[in-house]
Amino acid sequence: MSNAVPPETTTNAGPDTAWDSVPRRVCVIGGTRYFGRHLVTLLRDAGARVTLVNRGSAPPPPGVDHVRADRDDEAALTAALGDRTFDAVIDQVLYTPAQAAVARRVFADRTARYVMTSTMEVYDPATSPLVRTAPGVPVTEETVDPAHWPVDLALPWHDPAAIARHFGGATAYAEGKRQAEAVLAAGRPPFGWASVRSAHVLGGGARDFTGRLAHYTELVAAGRPVAVHEQPRPTSFVQHREIAAALAAVAASPAVGAVNAASAEPLDAVGLSELVADRLGTTARYRRAEGADHSPFSFDRWYPMDTRRAQSLGLAFSPLHDWLPAAVTEAVEATAPGGPRASTGGPAATGSTHPNDRKAA
Ligand SMILES: NC(=O)c1ccc[n+]([C@@H]2O[C@H](COP(=O)([O-])OP(=O)(O)OC[C@H]3O[C@@H](n4cnc5c(N)ncnc54)[C@H](OP(=O)(O)O)[C@@H]3O)[C@@H](O)[C@H]2O)c1
Repeated sequence: MSNAVPPETTTNAGPDTAWDSVPRRVCVIGGTRYFGRHLVTLLRDAGARVTLVNRGSAPPPPGVDHVRADRDDEAALTAALGDRTFDAVIDQVLYTPAQAAVARRVFADRTARYVMTSTMEVYDPATSPLVRTAPGVPVTEETVDPAHWPVDLALPWHDPAAIARHFGGATAYAEGKRQAEAVLAAGRPPFGWASVRSAHVLGGGARDFTGRLAHYTELVAAGRPVAVHEQPRPTSFVQHREIAAALAAVAASPAVGAVNAASAEPLDAVGLSELVADRLGTTARYRRAEGADHSPFSFDRWYPMDTRRAQSLGLAFSPLHDWLPAAVTEAVEATAPGGPRASTGGPAATGSTHPNDRKAA
């Protein structure tokens, strides 16, 4: 599919990852908010020379090179990067085909490998007539093929509000990711590229800025009902440190194309509520979701991911029930009175100021 060039790697990735190498010189775009922070520190601790690109809202951790630039500003990004080159770039904040086009140009001669953090939302059949899923059948990477996905660069991708008006919020996010992948894949890519399609990320307590797990823990703890669809469909989840480790591993590998990243076991909104209730020693209550008024992770359509490609690449994700109870405990502690996240502001709260993050799933 492309000129996949194995990057130079360094070994001994440390206890956070099951894989034994990471790229030697790696650029992370983003990396200062949620699991991106783990990604940066695990790469650094594994011996990689890490360069972090952000607009400067937070400094990188010690020992990490900092490039301050807006990734949307091609000239500024090019100037800020100077003569830096990398074995791999991991792009944590690639949301649109316009951003992918900039990335292709800016990094063409700077890296052998480009890894984009994508999302399972690319498979949401409600966001495109081209996506077809079959109930009961886990969704494989081929369901959305970047090599054949139509791209429309004439849309106002630089204006998230206009894109949201054009598509609607959920579709804007999913379609932006699909078309971004398609731009990376188009023609003869200048680097080996991969797209890690992440499941819903959980864990880390207050670090999970989306507030989605906290929505469950707060409602269940208060004895208030969780709004779920009449027949909630299962979805996929991944632990926050494991998705960071998977991104580092894919960056070190020669794998090209899309890779689903998730714990293998799907779970629906009732299953999640029951697990939360069990952890809290109480009973979950429910009410029927009406229209858009439903809890995060309650879906009326099927798209949990098939993880066989990830397994064939050597990526290992822990069974859901090995890590989710601890993630629930972290969420409870974060929202306890006086805790770092005393109130989440309700189900749709994201805590983000970035327009593209209104649904960072
Ligand atoms: N949370 C989930 O459940 C989930 C599920 C699937 C996929 N994902 C994907 O995960 C990724 C986000 O992961 P994360 O939350 O851990 O993020 P992250 O790696 O911590 O990156 C967020 C940082 O990126 C920087 N940034 C944002 N826009 C920028 C720009 N235009 N130029 C330069 N820097 C910019 C911001 O810092 P500055 O403000 O300083 O620039 C921000 O702090 C997204 O691609 C999302 O689609 C998330």
